[in-house]
Amino acid sequence: MKRKKIVAGNWKMNGTYDDACKLTSEIVAMAKDELNGNTVVILAPPFPFIPTVNKLTEQTNIKISAQNCSSENSGAFTGEVSAAMIASCGAAYVIIGHSERRTIFKEQDDLLLKKVQMALANNLSVIFCIGETKEQREQAIHFKVAEEQLNNSIFKLSADEFSKCIIAYEPVWAIGTGLTATPAQAQEMHHYIRGCIAKSFTPQVAEQCSLLYGGSCNESNAAELFALEDIDGGLIGGASLKSRSFVNIIKSMKD
Ligand code: 13P
Repeated sequence: MKRKKIVAGNWKMNGTYDDACKLTSEIVAMAKDELNGNTVVILAPPFPFIPTVNKLTEQTNIKISAQNCSSENSGAFTGEVSAAMIASCGAAYVIIGHSERRTIFKEQDDLLLKKVQMALANNLSVIFCIGETKEQREQAIHFKVAEEQLNNSIFKLSADEFSKCIIAYEPVWAIGTGLTATPAQAQEMHHYIRGCIAKSFTPQVAEQCSLLYGGSCNESNAAELFALEDIDGGLIGGASLKSRSFVNIIKSMKD
């Protein structure tokens, strides 16, 4: 079985309700006419917009993701959003461990593992983010950092649970900076990550796991990145907020 090719748009905390409707409608219109449907397209809007974005995309193959979920099931956790709530609003995925959650909200590996388990228990697939900071790359410890992030979290899952996870490699120094890992740097890290999965599980599990690149992936560099052997798609930030750019990125994916 071939690995799934995936292009996911992480809208982060941007836009209003009207902006979300306009962006979704534009993507749906373009997707209908221009996309061949072999790539899994995922939109990750802010929580309040999930039901509407889900409704607007229901005639398409587009899937919906949340950007985070609680590690708790339900109860007195003011401001939190549970995996069950997200699933009940029509989302099929949730992003967990984004570097902005790790750095700004101080989310650590053990909490992230709890979130992943909660997501899986509610039938959500997980887009799990890892990646090194600029300082860590300069110290040449980026492979070790990525492996530790995996060992301390999703590598503790069973192989069956892990098969519902997608990994997004997002070098922190490339997120929102306009800097992008070179194709060689991105392929090298993705290849290393696949090797770590093979070591922790089996080569077959590693072969099936989709690995996305994130970090200033845009319509100019997507084709080159997506053509690399171990890159199965992208997790797109800024460029996913412009319908034309996002659709061009999807079109960069070759079968
Ligand atoms: P940018 O594409 O804006 O660099 O963001 C990447 C990202 O963080 C996607 O999750």
